[in-house]
Amino acid sequence: MSSLLIKSASQIITPKPGELRGQAIKQLTEHTYTSIFIQDDIIQAIAPVDELLSRIPGDCQIIDASGKAVLPGFVDSHTHLVFGGHRENEFAQRCAGITYEEIAKQGGGILSTVNATRSMSQEELIERGLLYLQKAVRHGTTSIEIKSGYGLDRDTELKILRVIDKLKEIQPVEITSTFLGAHAIPPNKSKSDYIQEIKDMLPEATVLADFCDVFCELGYFSVQESLDILCEAKKFGLIPRMHTNQFNNIGGIQGAIEIGAVAVEHLETLDDTDIAMLAGTDICTTMLPGVSLFLKIPYAPGRKILDAGCIPVLATDFNTGSCMTLNMPLILNLACTQMGFSMPEAVSAATQNGAYALGKENVGCIAPGWQADLMILDSDNYQNLIYFYGEPQIEKVIKKGNIIFDRNLSWKVPGLE
Ligand code: NIG
Ligand code: FE
Repeated sequence: MSSLLIKSASQIITPKPGELRGQAIKQLTEHTYTSIFIQDDIIQAIAPVDELLSRIPGDCQIIDASGKAVLPGFVDSHTHLVFGGHRENEFAQRCAGITYEEIAKQGGGILSTVNATRSMSQEELIERGLLYLQKAVRHGTTSIEIKSGYGLDRDTELKILRVIDKLKEIQPVEITSTFLGAHAIPPNKSKSDYIQEIKDMLPEATVLADFCDVFCELGYFSVQESLDILCEAKKFGLIPRMHTNQFNNIGGIQGAIEIGAVAVEHLETLDDTDIAMLAGTDICTTMLPGVSLFLKIPYAPGRKILDAGCIPVLATDFNTGSCMTLNMPLILNLACTQMGFSMPEAVSAATQNGAYALGKENVGCIAPGWQADLMILDSDNYQNLIYFYGEPQIEKVIKKGNIIFDRNLSWKVPGLE
């Protein structure tokens, strides 16, 4: 049995357990000058070190955390981390004034990444996946969701799901997998044929994925088409979630409620009626402020969503087209500076509520009985992580009781080289 003591941390910060909304999301619990005792992958106790001495075995690994703040690892619950190619040229075009939607209409956008992803082997995609996961860990992420969606044909969609499956096996970050065959309509195929092809992929996708997602948007999948796909996916045991209300409000929220989606994600065009509808549900409202920054589109109405009592979640949406970052602390900064989140709300939305969105029950808090997924900062106040934006401040990352990143030893994450 391996054990780890994080000794005398200046500050240990944790959200409350369970899905957080309203008053509960505003309140972080703070322990000062306290230690965390971990055995195997579980937190056993949080107490001053003298009270823990009798329980600590002789071979216990000890980390001195005096002068440092400790937080739960981030749960980045929305990414498209497996893709081929890069779209820096499109970024340059956008910087010169061409919009994301115009680039997509010219055959760029998602479809250009689809071509690059189709031409890469499973091994090449795994190698790139490892590289990106390494970056995610350095930003404090210990659990992550990854979607397919850059294949748009049977072979490539399943190849991406197999890459995600392999990544689960060979490195320490905990991965949840989502089938997003309905990310766009492939060229040279009618939409109805492609929807049938997506449905035909479901028996194999369900073995590899936990969730099914659709891009419910003008020019992509209508509400009715989205529900048709998600309804079929449910029959195979996949849990529905939706990319919706990114550029246009086409009624995706009503659809998500109808189908029993676990989360609605993006929400940049969410209106007051949608917010009122969501407030009465257990559907997670996942906001992706990195996309608004990167694409220069409006931010989701975060403050209104929080005040209405919805379940807010923050994630990166990491992908090569609309959000080229895995930096969760930056996402929290954007939520606070651009969307009206308080710092405790931002931390709760990126940890405990992210875990809830992925159906993870003992992840996202620092408390006895919870999985030991933590980060240790190089300063004594968690607020610095959001305040000193863009600056690396995470010294160590611990996943299931193992140190997977130690900035003082190496910038490399073992298993992620
Ligand atoms: O979540 N909105 C749809 N899909 C991605 C963007 C994908 C891309 O541009 O490659 C998103 O933002
Ligand atoms: Fe996305």
